[in-house]
Amino acid sequence: MIRKYTYGNPVETGAVIQKLPDETQPFSLMQLDETQDGIRLFLRMAREDAVYGLGEQVRGINKRGFTYISDALDDPQHTEGRHNLYGGHNFLILDRKKEPSFGIFVDDPSRTVFDIGETKLDELCIQAGPDCVIYTVEGESLKDIAKQFRELIGRSYIAPKWAFGYQQSRWGYACAADVREAVVGHHSRQIPLDAVYMDIDYMERYKDFTVDGEKFPDFAEFVSEMKAQGIHLVPIIDAGVKMEEGYPVYEEGMREHYFCTDADGKEFVAAVWPGKSLFPDVLNSKAREWFGGQYRFLMEQGIDGFWNDMNEPAVFYSERNLKKVMKELRSIEDDNLDLYAFWHLKGLVNGLENNPEDYRQFYHNMDGVKIRHDKVHNLYGYYMTKAAADAFEHIAPGKRTLLFSRSSYIGMHRYGGIWTGDNASWWSHLLLSIQQMPSLNLCGILYTGSDIGGFGCDTTQDLLMRWLEFGIFTPLMRNHSALGTREQEVYQFENTGDFRNIIRIRYGLLPYIYSEYMKAALDNEMYFRPLAFDYPQDAHAAQVEDQLMTGSSIMIAPVYRQNATGRYVYLPEPMMMVRMKSLEEKTCTVLEPGHHYVDIALEETVFFVKKNRMLPMAVLDEDVRNISGVDMERLEWIGFTDTEASYVLYDDDGISKQYAPKENWKKIVRTKEALDVTA
Ligand code: GLC
Repeated sequence: MIRKYTYGNPVETGAVIQKLPDETQPFSLMQLDETQDGIRLFLRMAREDAVYGLGEQVRGINKRGFTYISDALDDPQHTEGRHNLYGGHNFLILDRKKEPSFGIFVDDPSRTVFDIGETKLDELCIQAGPDCVIYTVEGESLKDIAKQFRELIGRSYIAPKWAFGYQQSRWGYACAADVREAVVGHHSRQIPLDAVYMDIDYMERYKDFTVDGEKFPDFAEFVSEMKAQGIHLVPIIDAGVKMEEGYPVYEEGMREHYFCTDADGKEFVAAVWPGKSLFPDVLNSKAREWFGGQYRFLMEQGIDGFWNDMNEPAVFYSERNLKKVMKELRSIEDDNLDLYAFWHLKGLVNGLENNPEDYRQFYHNMDGVKIRHDKVHNLYGYYMTKAAADAFEHIAPGKRTLLFSRSSYIGMHRYGGIWTGDNASWWSHLLLSIQQMPSLNLCGILYTGSDIGGFGCDTTQDLLMRWLEFGIFTPLMRNHSALGTREQEVYQFENTGDFRNIIRIRYGLLPYIYSEYMKAALDNEMYFRPLAFDYPQDAHAAQVEDQLMTGSSIMIAPVYRQNATGRYVYLPEPMMMVRMKSLEEKTCTVLEPGHHYVDIALEETVFFVKKNRMLPMAVLDEDVRNISGVDMERLEWIGFTDTEASYVLYDDDGISKQYAPKENWKKIVRTKEALDVTA
C-alpha cells in the first residue's frame, strides 16, 4: 500500500514511475509539522527497531544512531563522521517489532536531513521541503515493502553481460602503451579480464569528448585492437566542460545557451580538472539531448561503456569566490596571524571547494522554469546520466551500453549504476563497502560496487585479496586506484596465482551472479539483502552487520580485518559452507544454526548455501580470458539438501535489451545424488 503526500510546489524529479493520486487523509504514520523552512517528521522508535536504507552513506546496515544528509558532495573522507556522500537516496524502511513496519521515501532533490536517533536516541526526525513529495509504503514484510517501493520507482538498469566480468582501472594510464601493459599483465598470467578503464588522462587537456591524439594515436584502431583481445575500453566523462575557444563542445553550448547561468543569465564559471569550466544544464531537455549526443563521438569509435564523474557537480572553486578569497588573502598578507586569524585563513582556502554558497549562485532552466541549483542539487548526476542513457537509445538502439555514475538520486537507477566513489585502501572501507550494498539495492541501485583495493592510499596484498574475495559477488567488480598510489593491478604482487584463482572463481560463479542480478532487476527484488530481510523472526539476524544474503541461494561472510585467519559467522538456519581455494578445489561442510568461528585463509573464498538451494558454477578452461569463455551449458551444480534442491536459471544474449521473459527462466531440480558438489 503506497500513499502519496505533496507539500508546497515540488519539481518533477522523475524518481517514481507510477502516477498516484494525492492522499486525502492527513499524514498519520509519523508526526508531521509544517514549519516555515519545510516539513519535519517525527517518530518514536522502540529500542529494538531497526532502520534500513538511505543508499550510499557511511556506517552500518542498520542506520540508527547518526544523522545522514542527502547533499551530494565530492569528498574522499568517507569516515564515520561524514554526514553526506555523493548521492541522495531518500528511502528508508522502519523495521518495527511491535508495530507495523513501513517505508518512507522523501522525494526532495535539495538537502534532506535524516536524524535517526542522533539527537535523541529513540527519535527519528526527517527534515525536508518545503517543496517535496512524501511516499509511504506499508506491506506485509520488509521484502514486500522493498518490492513495492521498487515497483514505484521502476526497473533497475541492466548492464551488458561483459560488465559482470573483472575490470581494471587506474587513474594514471597515460597512453595506449599503459593500457596495453595492463591487458598483457593479466593475459600473460591467464587472469581473465573484460574491461580496462580510461581515466581523465585520455582526454586532451581534460576536455570531455576529446581523445589526446599523441597519447592515443588512431583511437578507433586502438579500440578495435582491444576488442579483438576481448577488452572493452571504458572512458570517463566529467560534468564540467572546459572553457576554451575553438573547442566545439564549449562553443556550441555557449551559442545555444546550454550551460547553467548565474542570476543575471551569464554562464556560471567554476573550475574542475580542466580549469575554468561550465556545467551543461542537464535539467533542461534540449541541453540534455545535446550533451547526450556528444557521447556519439566515442561510440562511433567503438566505445560501449562509460562512467560519469564529478557530477555532484564537484567544484574546485568558482570564479566569483576565488576573487573574493584572493582579495581577502592579499589583505592579510602582512598580518601577524593569531590562532583564530590563521584558522580563518585556512577556512577561506579550504572553503573554495564545493562551497554551498556556490550552489546557490547558479541556475537551471528547467524547460522554461528558472530554478536555483541548490533546490535541485541532488539531481545533477542523475540527469547527466539520463542524458547519456537517452542518447544511447538513438546511438546504439536495442543494445545495452555500460553506464554508471558517481552522483545519483533515486530514479537514476533506471539509467545506470553507481560506483561508491573515492574510498581508501583501508580495511574499514572494505567493511563499509559490504554494508553499503544492501542499502543501495533497497534504493534500486543494483549495478554497483566499490573501488576494489581502495582508491586513495597504498593498498596491501592482503587487503586487495580480501577485497576481491568480497568483490567476486558485487555486480561491478572493478579494481581502481588513484594517481600516485601504489600500483594495484593484481599482477603487481607476489603469488599472482592466488589472485588468478580468486578472479576465476568470479567467472565460475558468473552464471549465478548474472542470473541473480537479472532476476532481481526484472522482478524488482534485492540482490544483496540484510539477514533480517530473509529471517525476520530471528532476533539475532538483525544484529548481523557483516554478512549478506546474496541472490536466492547463498549468504556471504567476507573477512574484512587485517591479519585475521578467519571470522565469526552467524547462521540463522543450517547451511552448507563452501570453501574454495580455486575453482577446482572446493570442500563443503554442513554447519548447524548459530555462531561459528570459521577459519578462512587469505587465499580462500567462502560462502554458505541455504537449505534445499543450489547454484550453478561454470566449468572453465585454463585459458579463459573473458566472459566469452564462460559456457552457460557447462555447469556444475553445488547444492545442499537431503532430498532435492532447485534453482531458477536465467540467461540471455547479454547484450540486447530482449530480456528473457519469465516463461523462459529455467527451473532446474536436482536430487541430492545428482548434485555435482555437496556435503
Ligand atoms: C574522481 C573519481 C575517481 C577518478 C578521479 C580522476 O576522484 O572519483 O574515480 O579516478 O576523479 O578522474
